[in-house]
Amino acid sequence: MFKFKVLWFISLITLQVLLANSYCTKSLVPALYVFGDSSVDAGNNNNLNTAAKANTFPYGIDFNNCSTGRFSNGKTFADIIAIKLGLPIPPSYLSVSEIERYQIASGINYASASCGILNSTRNGECLSLDKQIEYFTSTVTKDLPRNFRSKTKLKHYLSKSIYLLSIGSNDYILNYLRQEIGTNQDGNPEEYADYLLRQLGSNIKKIYDLGGRKFVIIGVGPIGCIPGYIIRKSHSQDCNEDVNQKVKPFSKKLPWMLQELKTQLSGSLFTILDSFKVFKKIRNSPEKFGFTNICDSCVGEGAKPCENRKQYYFYDFGHTTEATNEIYANKCFSGRHACVPLNVEQLVHAH
Ligand SMILES: *[C@@H]1O[C@H](CO)[C@@H](O)[C@H](O)[C@H]1NC(C)=O
Ligand SMILES: *[C@@H]1O[C@H](CO)[C@@H](O)[C@H](O)[C@H]1NC(C)=O
Repeated sequence: MFKFKVLWFISLITLQVLLANSYCTKSLVPALYVFGDSSVDAGNNNNLNTAAKANTFPYGIDFNNCSTGRFSNGKTFADIIAIKLGLPIPPSYLSVSEIERYQIASGINYASASCGILNSTRNGECLSLDKQIEYFTSTVTKDLPRNFRSKTKLKHYLSKSIYLLSIGSNDYILNYLRQEIGTNQDGNPEEYADYLLRQLGSNIKKIYDLGGRKFVIIGVGPIGCIPGYIIRKSHSQDCNEDVNQKVKPFSKKLPWMLQELKTQLSGSLFTILDSFKVFKKIRNSPEKFGFTNICDSCVGEGAKPCENRKQYYFYDFGHTTEATNEIYANKCFSGRHACVPLNVEQLVHAH
């Protein structure tokens, strides 16, 4: 009888430790779940059959010189938001073994480079948004219930957690902008944006139906200004405005789509990062943000990366440095204009 009581006591302690890990830390929210493309991929693609991987030097040079699969010299936007929320950096879904997944209650990263909103957007193997949400569904229905003693507690946890989506760029870079060279089947940019936004909206609704309420959405930025598209002249470097005009309808219409969704999904809250606006601010006075170069990739062809990585906006042909990610994350977390209508801090406290 005594032995039985001791065992019972020990198992209670174990349970409390588990719950403490998920609740009683100093974090502002219980968890951060991340969906998206290479802008926030934390290593899912390392496990897939694709050339779109960032698990070799010089990626991660400022992440303890460890090439984790992040497409940057250091932390991504999502990593920095997690830290600001007081959470561990969410591990990538495919790097956690199936039997360990249930132990992670502070958030998971499903993002995958070279994928997008549409199933047809891909370059080699990657996790489309549909697939990412399929995995998240498995997290919510199979893994998380093992951590919660009641459905009500799980529901509460899901409603307080934050869902960050950074996706859509590849639906242009690897899809629409490429097709245009050939057949241009998808008609005008406005219609294409509508189509993407409908798909994005229905995926957000799936997360909502599983219990998510608080969303941070990173739209498509000025793709015409990345080193891969920029127009280089002898005395200046101009953004490719033709490309920018084609991608702009997406970010212009994103707030309307989310406003519409908000009326349909009761209790939902959205934060949108306006990357066009933030980029314009930085481009107008780079020095104010500590940048000396906002046009070139820090990593040259096969060469070593630049030394002054804090002064470069771009790390490679299409991805930003940690310095850039820090600026966006700081502004979105507590600034007043980058993330609207709420910054992340306000989103945390809103209900
Ligand atoms: C970082 O790792 C690369 C590749 O493993 C190595 O060549 C380089 O010397 C390392 N740099 C530092 C500062 O440790
Ligand atoms: C994308 O593929 C998934 C299966 O992998 C399917 O369930 C979904 O309906 C597809 N979405 C579209 C928009 O075709």
